[in-house]
Amino acid sequence: MSVNQAIKPVTLEEKNNHLYLGGCDLVDLAKKYGTPLYVLDEKSIREICKNYKEAFKDYSNIKMMYASKALCTSALVRILDEEGFGFDTVSAGEIYTVYKSGVNMSKVLFNGNNKSEKEIELAIDLGVGRFSVDNFYEAEILNKIAIQKNKTVEILLRITPGIECHTHDYIQTGQIDSKFGFDLSQIDEIVELIINKYSNIKLRGLHAHIGSQIFELKSYYDEVEILVKEISRINKKYSLDLKEMNIGGGVGVKYTTKDEPPKISDLADAVTSAMHKYAVEIPTIYIEPGRSIISTAGVTLYTVGSSKQVPNGRKYVAVDGGMADNPRPSMYQAEYSAEVASSVNSKNKEKVTIAGRFCESGDILINEIELPKLNPGDIICVYNTGAYNYSMASNYNRVEKPAMVLVNNSLSDIIVNRETLDDLISKDVIPSRLKK
Ligand code: LLP
Repeated sequence: MSVNQAIKPVTLEEKNNHLYLGGCDLVDLAKKYGTPLYVLDEKSIREICKNYKEAFKDYSNIKMMYASKALCTSALVRILDEEGFGFDTVSAGEIYTVYKSGVNMSKVLFNGNNKSEKEIELAIDLGVGRFSVDNFYEAEILNKIAIQKNKTVEILLRITPGIECHTHDYIQTGQIDSKFGFDLSQIDEIVELIINKYSNIKLRGLHAHIGSQIFELKSYYDEVEILVKEISRINKKYSLDLKEMNIGGGVGVKYTTKDEPPKISDLADAVTSAMHKYAVEIPTIYIEPGRSIISTAGVTLYTVGSSKQVPNGRKYVAVDGGMADNPRPSMYQAEYSAEVASSVNSKNKEKVTIAGRFCESGDILINEIELPKLNPGDIICVYNTGAYNYSMASNYNRVEKPAMVLVNNSLSDIIVNRETLDDLISKDVIPSRLKK
């Protein structure tokens, strides 16, 4: 089993009716650092990296690029850099975080459908290794900026291979009607522009990303087939020697018992078998996993506060966080699993709906879950919150973003400080005519 196939992080234990992670009592962590609190289990992160590296060990030309959008903090970048991963970035902010964390920038790839000139300049100045060029406009400005800087940039072309994954509508990016990438019918036009006009762009290969939270390996097999065939068609038609192929990210994780994500070694088998079937010359493969690297490693701790029993209806139990620290349930109807860290084994159970503290009826974290009877002050641990929680968090209702703690071998370290009330007003400006 690989780490993404479990709901809970690898070091999660139950002791004395409490939950422990990385050898740390989660109730103690809640007391020490406050709640809501994001907690990351270092062993789970390193273990899933090992799952990926072992799965692809027989394929020498593999480049693992962590999709930073899932969670991007400096300490996490350090861990993944140590594990030998590169980084898929989509903004100046992600590029800057990776750079400041000491990563060799040739291991960084810059994705995105509307990169600004300022972001492109920063990426070129810092020596980002590959650009994934998404559209005609980007190719033009990238070439212009590269000429101004007297640099040559190496690129992949992002294409839409037309594969639909059965996942949430908002996170399908590989189908034909997508804002991302070149349609298959537009590839020749952009290749010709690069060959004939864009002197400072060197085309190295193709890139696609077919969706997120994917369980079906057949879609990767089909994607590889399309990419391989396109690369060899382009090479033949234009006498080029493209040798790189980026298959994107998307491998799913297990939020609830209903989810059945694939084993990473099975993903590797699907990808490499398609490669060996269709490719004459085996290209370098880039893979960009985000969620599957970091989701399972993360949990969020909340403290229970008020509750409300609707007469003849549901029982709501409110916690001190919600849609601002985890927008996924309200945005995507995402489902999560949880336990009570302060009384994990208590037998006296009841069905409750875990509500957030934000001023919207839709701020529900978990609908109807059976948990030990909850009292104010109890600590709830929500699983699988490592990906797309902190990275999509907001200050809705002017609430401070939570802290993040890394645990390992019974040690806990803050890796993101909790925001303060002064942080919240730190960017505000009162024009002098309004001053008191
Ligand atoms: N590469 C590209 C080009 C992507 O667009 C993405 C994700 C990834 C890699 C990483 O995919 P992953 O391995 O994490 O599935 N906010 C949504 C997910 C959006 C994913 C966007 N692209 C959510 O919370 O479910």
